[in-house]
Amino acid sequence: MKWRWCFSIVLVLLVHHMEMELAMALSAKDVTPPLVPTTMKKTISPKWRVPVARPRPKIIPPTPTELAYLSPTHYLKSCPNLEAIIQQKVNAWVKRDYTMAASIIRLHFHDCAVRGCDASILLNHAGSERRALASKTLRGFELIDEIKAEVETSCPPKTVSCADILTAAARDATVMAGGPFWEVPFGRKDGRVSLANEANSVPQGHENVTALIEFFQARGLNILDLVILSGSHTIGRSTCYSIRQRLSTDNINLKYLNSLRRQCNNSNININLNRFVDLDATTPKTFDEIYYTNLEKKMGLLQTDQLLYSDARTSPLVAALASQPSLFFNQFAVSMIKLGNVQVRTAGEVRLNCDYVNP
Ligand code: HEM
Repeated sequence: MKWRWCFSIVLVLLVHHMEMELAMALSAKDVTPPLVPTTMKKTISPKWRVPVARPRPKIIPPTPTELAYLSPTHYLKSCPNLEAIIQQKVNAWVKRDYTMAASIIRLHFHDCAVRGCDASILLNHAGSERRALASKTLRGFELIDEIKAEVETSCPPKTVSCADILTAAARDATVMAGGPFWEVPFGRKDGRVSLANEANSVPQGHENVTALIEFFQARGLNILDLVILSGSHTIGRSTCYSIRQRLSTDNINLKYLNSLRRQCNNSNININLNRFVDLDATTPKTFDEIYYTNLEKKMGLLQTDQLLYSDARTSPLVAALASQPSLFFNQFAVSMIKLGNVQVRTAGEVRLNCDYVNP
């Protein structure tokens, strides 16, 4: 019981810090509420509000460009059917192939993690992010192209950015996988620069927790966002290649280790990009909190996932999320909105084709 109280207090402090950040974002001019999904209201139940002296959270105010003009109603007049088109396409693709939901969520992360959410990951030219080693197993490009083609015929040309399409597709993919819904703020512009070496800096599963925290912090995301967004690994797959080091650590459940070794066929693991294992060994197709309970059982697939339960900065959050499922859904919506707001471009172009910059 004592432990649960400790977890709760740490979580309340972190969530409080985040609420302050969001409150600041909402009070900034030109941002149309709600940036916060309605589910956020349920985030902290009254019994969680313990009378503790809180240290003053250090707030780094979002820059004006970050907040400049993202709004859920951005395309209300210029492309009223946008969200219906995206949802219909994502649903159709995921119904045909459920693995596409996870792939689209990951594609969105890899976009926002490099140069912000500017669709730089979609550019398909020599030396682009998409051609990087770290992007080898990214999928979903064709789905985004198909959505873009339909949007270009239904709405005025070059109105809806590829970055916005990818962001909304990630939300719809989450819902299709059984996860939460949130309002997507729109108005991102597409970037013109995309460099493979920058894509290779995205975490690949063998980093330590400090490196992960720093990577997230550099993008305006905090430790709670790190733990929550890593919860995306409740669905989807990894190549055997990405877990090759995990197979020789001791911080792993023995039965699980044996099963992974069997699935990955040990022998040619170093080059194995074609063999996959589920990121969530227990409920691989369902978006749920079991990812966190797996970590408690030393059944995290990626080394970085498992480390979240060993490090004192993140383990209380893992424990709280494992024991209180609704927290995961509510905070996932909030953290995904934050991810979608990373370094958004407020000026620039809307591409005609998501794979190429405009001539
Ligand atoms: C915390 C740092 C992270 C690390 C180290 C990491 C690492 C990885 C790795 C190694 C894979 C498997 C890649 C492969 O071998 O094919 C993967 C898959 C995936 N990641 Fe992450 N990831 C991180 C954060 C995130 C975030 C923030 C999201 C989403 C918001 C995300 C969503 C996913 C999804 C959904 C998959 C499955 C993709 C599929 O099945 O196609 N990851 N991640």
